[in-house]
Amino acid sequence: MSNLDRNATIAQIVTEHAFAARVFQKHGLDYCCHGDVRLPEACRPKGLDPEAVFAEVEAALADGPGTPEPDARALTTAGLVARIVDRHHGYLRRALPAIAPIAEKVARVHGPHDPRLREVHAVFGALSDALLPHLDEEEEVLFPALMSRRPDPALLSRELDKMLTEHLAVGDMLARLRKLTDDFTLPEWGCNTYRVLLTELDSLEADILEHVHLENHVLVPRFAPAN
Ligand SMILES: [Fe+2]
Ligand SMILES: [Fe+2]
Repeated sequence: MSNLDRNATIAQIVTEHAFAARVFQKHGLDYCCHGDVRLPEACRPKGLDPEAVFAEVEAALADGPGTPEPDARALTTAGLVARIVDRHHGYLRRALPAIAPIAEKVARVHGPHDPRLREVHAVFGALSDALLPHLDEEEEVLFPALMSRRPDPALLSRELDKMLTEHLAVGDMLARLRKLTDDFTLPEWGCNTYRVLLTELDSLEADILEHVHLENHVLVPRFAPAN
């Protein structure tokens, strides 16, 4: 029997069982910015069967992690911030500039055949333009404030609000990319560059969801009541 709590929100399920994240992502269930709902409620607008999704999560948990990740909740704030910056900010600073020319090429070559690919390129550009300064601001303003002995409450409140608002916009752009690419599905006529773009966008979405989940549901609750 699984120890999955069916009354938990999807954000809480991911906090408790990191392996649920990939299952939720695959079904386009945003456990970050829209994670404060139970699974049946999250499934309803997408026409998904919650029992089938529960079963998939249980199967993923039964397969089990090869090497379990240390629980982010057990980290100190400095340790949690270090994990976010080293792993997720580092990844984005490498991945975003690497994906940009691939998205541009696919839009240029295949845009005449499927104009949605031009929009993928535009949305990707907007996502990148939103994320890079977001990372800088977290590292330069918000995270130092969170780790300081006596943070200025007004500054903290303003920066936390700003971060959460920007995460919502990022979540919307990721959902748009997923929709425009039919859940990152390569059409029959898709070339290898197109395949690489979809694989990279899928990985990008997975990493950002994990990253924003850590910020929204593990880091922020230490400083503000749950939103
Ligand atoms: Fe971040
Ligand atoms: Fe963030």
